Amino acid sequence: MSGSLRAVVSGAGMIGAVHAAAIRASGGELAGVVASTPERGALAAEKWRVPARYPDFEAVLADDSVSVVHVCTPNALHVGQAEAALRAGKHVICEKPLATATADARRLTRLAEEAGLVLAVPFVYRYHPLVRELRERRLRGEFGAWQLIHGSYLQDWMLSEDAMSWRVDPSEGGPSRAFADIGSHWCDLVEWVAGIRFTELTARLGTTVPTRPAGTGATFSATGEGRRVRVRTEDVATVLLRTDGGTLATLTVSQVSAGRKNRLWFELDGARGSAVFDQENPETAWLGAPDGARVLFRDPGHGSAEQRRLSRLPAGHGQGYADCFHSFVDDAYAAIRGEPREGLPTGADGVRSARLTEAVLTSSASLTWADVDPTAIALENTA
Ligand SMILES: NC(=O)c1ccc[n+]([C@@H]2O[C@H](COP(=O)([O-])OP(=O)(O)OC[C@H]3O[C@@H](n4cnc5c(N)ncnc54)[C@H](O)[C@@H]3O)[C@@H](O)[C@H]2O)c1
Repeated sequence: MSGSLRAVVSGAGMIGAVHAAAIRASGGELAGVVASTPERGALAAEKWRVPARYPDFEAVLADDSVSVVHVCTPNALHVGQAEAALRAGKHVICEKPLATATADARRLTRLAEEAGLVLAVPFVYRYHPLVRELRERRLRGEFGAWQLIHGSYLQDWMLSEDAMSWRVDPSEGGPSRAFADIGSHWCDLVEWVAGIRFTELTARLGTTVPTRPAGTGATFSATGEGRRVRVRTEDVATVLLRTDGGTLATLTVSQVSAGRKNRLWFELDGARGSAVFDQENPETAWLGAPDGARVLFRDPGHGSAEQRRLSRLPAGHGQGYADCFHSFVDDAYAAIRGEPREGLPTGADGVRSARLTEAVLTSSASLTWADVDPTAIALENTA
């Protein structure tokens, strides 16, 4: 049935290619790709082995045979493309951040709801089988009341003072960089696994590399011409949070931590036991108890139904990020077919993430605690 879904990817960068592979792996038909110019689109179409039939985004909107649009462009373009696609009656898978302003994320979410269309947002770390296992164990009460939640999301790709990306420029990436880009993933994952909501937070942001080469996105040239611009988005963020149950949590976010490539790590400490997940080692999870600790292996022969469902390979045959994307697109397409599956991140989760980002920015500017808007919580899926 998913074979009948014709999908187009807008944005031919790193994540666009991951979406393209996941569409095919999920049995969807990759009908085409749109890039920043018709020439770049044609190059991507050749590379991805699809016909170069869409010179621009308008051509996608005009094609009634396309039922899903995957928005994989720089952040500032998400709202416009997602809204246009929804108004054209197409389901949308929109990369995070759904929008760089909460009001826009809410508008998109309402639009999709009113039109009866699926709007999914790839908080894909939810699709690691052992993440599902930890969530299931929490639902069964294995860990007890939370005592403390802590963790980090660390990368190093912006450590060089010559590293540059459209993400650095607020007009393309939004007013928050490190938190919105990766801290948002940590918050989504931890809230979902632990079954909590962060209700207030206090954040401090740091820009450790004060200037970077001029030019972003399509205009950026690695060789540059020597001109540098002042950086106005954060390289690092530290956040102290409190949950709806009163538990304290800390989060450290960095894009400048040498040797850390994509280290999303969290620890949930409960009254009866603790749980640790490290996205760079997703085949194991650590379970702590007062009398010892043990390592849990992903294994479709054991554990929760969701761990088994999302395990695509036998134990010991490493699964990873691309498998998460495959499972996410599978579930998004199932939702489009009217078969909702557990844990699909949707527009409501995109709204939640935008609100958390807004609270981080408010707090860091005022040096005070900021509330996370309860109206955003009301829009969300229940845990
Ligand atoms: N969910 C995840 O785990 C995850 C991971 C990485 C990136 N992302 C998100 O995906 C988005 C893209 O990130 P990326 O790493 O692929 O960036 P990228 O820079 O590698 O790719 C972006 C692409 O969009 C193209 N583009 C620019 N303007 C366009 C337009 N008007 N129409 C079509 N294409 C256009 C650019 O030429 C570029 O090829 C970002 O919003 C990012 O936050 C999400």
